[in-house]
Amino acid sequence: MTTPCVLVTGGAGYIGSHVVRLLQERGSRVVIVDDLSNGVRARTEGIPTLEIDLATDAAPSAVRTLIDEHAVDAVIHFAARKQVGESVQRPAWYYSQNVGSLANLLLAIEGSTVGSVVFSSSAAVYGEPDTGAVAEDDPTRPINPYGATKLVGEQLLTASVAPLGISATSLRYFNVAGAGWPDLGDTAVQNLVPMVFQRLDAGEQPRIFGDDYATADGTCIRDYIHVLDLAHAHLAALDRLETRRGEGAEPEASVFNVGTGEGSSVREVIEAIARASGRELQPEIMPRRAGDPPKLIADPARITEVLGWRARRGLDEIVASAWQAHTA
Ligand SMILES: NC(=O)c1ccc[n+]([C@@H]2O[C@H](COP(=O)([O-])OP(=O)(O)OC[C@H]3O[C@@H](n4cnc5c(N)ncnc54)[C@H](O)[C@@H]3O)[C@@H](O)[C@H]2O)c1
Repeated sequence: MTTPCVLVTGGAGYIGSHVVRLLQERGSRVVIVDDLSNGVRARTEGIPTLEIDLATDAAPSAVRTLIDEHAVDAVIHFAARKQVGESVQRPAWYYSQNVGSLANLLLAIEGSTVGSVVFSSSAAVYGEPDTGAVAEDDPTRPINPYGATKLVGEQLLTASVAPLGISATSLRYFNVAGAGWPDLGDTAVQNLVPMVFQRLDAGEQPRIFGDDYATADGTCIRDYIHVLDLAHAHLAALDRLETRRGEGAEPEASVFNVGTGEGSSVREVIEAIARASGRELQPEIMPRRAGDPPKLIADPARITEVLGWRARRGLDEIVASAWQAHTA
């Protein structure tokens, strides 16, 4: 039997490169599709990479050639644009990029060796939920085009499983942070932890957007998930899909939250950064930002029950690993 081959789109990105490394560690064959618009080639040195914008017309046949050449069994689809603000400014481009890339990927998969797809979705599909901890069956009401593209992506996958004879899992990530290896840190600055690091590098104090929310310390509460825990969730999802496929199970679409079920406030994250960096931090309080729900926490019961996955790393470990990667 040949070693399974996994195609990772967006494999040169922050989360994708963690999954690529875990796949390699366990001996899978890996190929990557990435246009390197936000990826870093050095993260995945030596791995066959097709450099193409998945949203372009040339993508389906180019990706299909790659799938055929490597007899790809499964795809993990990370490639997407992920800046909420930019998606508000350019909604049509976000749809064409994020939905268009997935559509092209599915065109490439049609009638191929691929039987399983894992898709990067987001807690952004929930919008501003009324409840503290959201479960997969709670209403999905994205409040920006980025979140909408993720929801449409889930729907497109669900519609595709039966006709394509594939099974698919959408993973709704909560707030991803940390680094599993010092060379794989998050270089984006839209997320709280790298944003604070950037302020510190510039000799500035971190900022808190709103400290008058109805939470214990007045700042927003989020569910922070270590990128390495998240990467392991992908392997668990993939293994389940491939096992079901091996057993000849019917095509199926499933959705799982990936979070810890624990919340940390912005102030608590900044305190953890102060501990990890050894700096004294005095945050500046700014007005609230539009569209920030006071509290967004995952109910991770389903993923624990079905995939046997649970987060192992807490806030201090997340922040310390991110700081180590930042200073490496
Ligand atoms: N980082 C987070 O907090 C977070 C949270 C929820 C969901 N997600 C989702 O997880 C996935 C990965 O996120 P990340 O943080 O690793 O982002 P990232 O930007 O580091 O990785 C995305 C990768 O995809 C590539 N890419 C983007 N558009 C492409 C296209 N049209 N064609 C080919 N390649 C393309 C980029 O070059 C990059 O390497 C994304 O789908 C994102 O929406 C991320």
